[in-house]
Amino acid sequence: MEPLLKVSSLQVRYGAVQAVRGIDFEIREGEIVAFLGANGAGKSSTLNAIAGLADVHSGTIEFAGRDITAMAPETLTPLGLALSPEGRRVFPALSVAENLLMGAYSVRDKAKIDTAWERVYSLFPILHERKDQLAGTLSGGQQQMLAVGRALMSGPRLLLLDEPSLGLAPLIVEQVFDLITILRDQKVTIALVEQNVAKSLEIADRGYILSGGKVVGEGTATDLMAEGGFEDTFLGA
Ligand SMILES: Nc1ncnc2c1ncn2[C@@H]1O[C@H](COP(=O)(O)OP(=O)(O)OP(=O)(O)O)[C@@H](O)[C@H]1O
Ligand SMILES: [Mg+2]
Repeated sequence: MEPLLKVSSLQVRYGAVQAVRGIDFEIREGEIVAFLGANGAGKSSTLNAIAGLADVHSGTIEFAGRDITAMAPETLTPLGLALSPEGRRVFPALSVAENLLMGAYSVRDKAKIDTAWERVYSLFPILHERKDQLAGTLSGGQQQMLAVGRALMSGPRLLLLDEPSLGLAPLIVEQVFDLITILRDQKVTIALVEQNVAKSLEIADRGYILSGGKVVGEGTATDLMAEGGFEDTFLGA
């Protein structure tokens, strides 16, 4: 079967800085695929390039059998691709409900938006309790849930999650990882960028290790976990 996402020879540059140096990977429907690596390895640049937020210097990105290289985010959302960006970029001066609605900007059908709202509120009851509260007044964990919830509002087939557990208290980290497995059970395919190697490999099917803008390791989560020793790669990057 064709993979849902196929990235070939991807390069991302910011002026003179080469963030991604020709990487290849694929994600099959229904998988959770982890992308692991040190600060500056090129993880966010890779996700942002897929989501149309970073310029692709060269290479191709195919999604559901279609070339989406350099497509704009607003074109990608209706195709079934959504990103929850690093650093929980919620709109602090908008309410929780208004933030969620922003994620559904490509959805024209009011009934579909209501269904999406219900789904997000059932996944995150706390967001329902606080739906009229300004997002800026939420705790860090709640803002992270809001960022993920907003990405889910468009009903994505492929969800790109950039460091969803960063800076959260241990109990909330557990909740975030539990949520990812619930989403997989709901047939959402997931690309997961994380610093939490152990937890990511626990829930992922496969993983890619990035270093210096290259893929330096890949395998099933079980094999990667058994291999271990990524600390050197991470610290040495
Ligand atoms: N907007 C930008 N302009 C210039 N350089 C950038 C920009 N974004 C990232 N970079 C550089 O590109 C390289 C890869 O960064 P990227 O953010 O993709 O890494 P990362 O693996 O997500 O790191 P982290 O774990 O810190 O989030 C780094 O050298 C970084 O400094
Ligand atoms: Mg990053």
